[in-house]
Amino acid sequence: MPDDVTIYEVGARDGLQNEKGIVPVQAKAEFITRLLAAGLPVVEATSFVHPQWVPQLADAGELMAMLGEEGRHLPVLVPNERGLDRALELGLRHIAIFGSATETFAQKNLNRSLDEQFAMFAPTVTRARAAGLDVRAYVSMCFGDPWEGAVPVEQVVSVGRRLVDLGASQLSLGDTVGVGTAGQVSGLLDAFNAAGLPDEVLAVHFHDTYGQALANAYAAWQHGIRTFDASAGGLGGCPYAKSATGNLATEDLVWMFRGLGVETGVDLDALVATSTWMAGILGRPSPSRVVTALAPR
Ligand code: HMG
Ligand code: MG
Repeated sequence: MPDDVTIYEVGARDGLQNEKGIVPVQAKAEFITRLLAAGLPVVEATSFVHPQWVPQLADAGELMAMLGEEGRHLPVLVPNERGLDRALELGLRHIAIFGSATETFAQKNLNRSLDEQFAMFAPTVTRARAAGLDVRAYVSMCFGDPWEGAVPVEQVVSVGRRLVDLGASQLSLGDTVGVGTAGQVSGLLDAFNAAGLPDEVLAVHFHDTYGQALANAYAAWQHGIRTFDASAGGLGGCPYAKSATGNLATEDLVWMFRGLGVETGVDLDALVATSTWMAGILGRPSPSRVVTALAPR
C-alpha cells in the first residue's frame, strides 16, 4: 500500500549507544528479537565503530553472532572500511554510513573534516555495493548544530547529494540535537526534492530535545515522506553531540499513525511491554508519553 509507512527502529543502536552502564549483550539480543516480534520491519542493531569511541557497542560482533541468521538482515552502522570488514566477516547485508552536514561535527564524530569524510565513505560504499550490500546514509546536524548554530540548507543538501552519489539507496535526514521545527522540515524536504532526491529516497530521523519530534514527523508525513526513524521508548542521544537527547519514541509515532489510519504493522502493546522491560534494565522510566500512558501499573 503506497500510504503505509515504514518505521526504521533505532533503539538498539542510537537508543543504547549513549548509555553509560554497559547493557549485557544477552539483553541487547533479546531487545532486538522483541522489537522484531512486535512487528517493526527494520531494526538497526548496532555499530561497527571504534570500540573506544562508543564503548556501549564494543560487543557488536558478539551481538550479531548471537543473533545468527536473524541478524544478517538487520542494518548496522559502519563508518569506514575497517567497520565494513567486520560486518562482511559476519555475513551482514545492510550497512549505514553516517555523514555530517557540519565541519565541527564531522571532526567530533568521525575525526575527519567535512571533505575528508567522503574519502572515508567512498571506498566503504564501493566495496559494500560490489559485495551486494545495501547502503543507507545518514546526514547529521540537518537542522542546527550546537557549535555552529544554523546550518545552511544548501550545505545540508550538498552533503546528502554527495552521499547518495556515492551509492547510498536511502538518505536519512537527522536532527541530531532535536532543534528543528515543522516549517524547517518542509523547507529542507523541498530543497532535497529540488536537488533531484524525491521523497521515496528520503527518511527522517528526529531527536526530541525540544519536544518537536512528533510535530516534525507529521510535517514530513504530510510532505510525502514514508520512512521514519524512531527509538523504542524514546531512548537515545549521541555521545558526540552536545545536548542531544532521546530520539522520537516509536510508541508516540505508532500512536499518531494509528489515529491517522496509517498502517505501521506494529503491535503497540508488545512494543510498550518491550520498552517497559528495557526501562527496567536501564533503571529509569521511559520518557515516552505513550509508554507512560499505556504501561501497566
Ligand atoms: P580514527 O581514530 O580517526 O580512526 O577514528 P583511524 O582510521 O585513524 O584508525 C585508528 C585505529 O582505529 C586503527 O587501529 C583502526 O584499525 C581502528 P590501530 O591500527 O591503531 O590499531 N579502527 C577501528 N576499529 C574497529 N572498528 C572500526 C575502526 N575504525 C578504525 N570501524 C572513526 C575514526 C570513524 C573510526 C571514529 O571516529 C569512530 O568510530 N566514530 C564513531 C562515532 C559514533 O559512532 N558516533 C555515534 C553514531 S552517529 C549518530 O548517532 C547520529 C545518527 O543517529 C543520526 C543523527 O542523529 O543525526 C546516525
Ligand atoms: Mg540519532
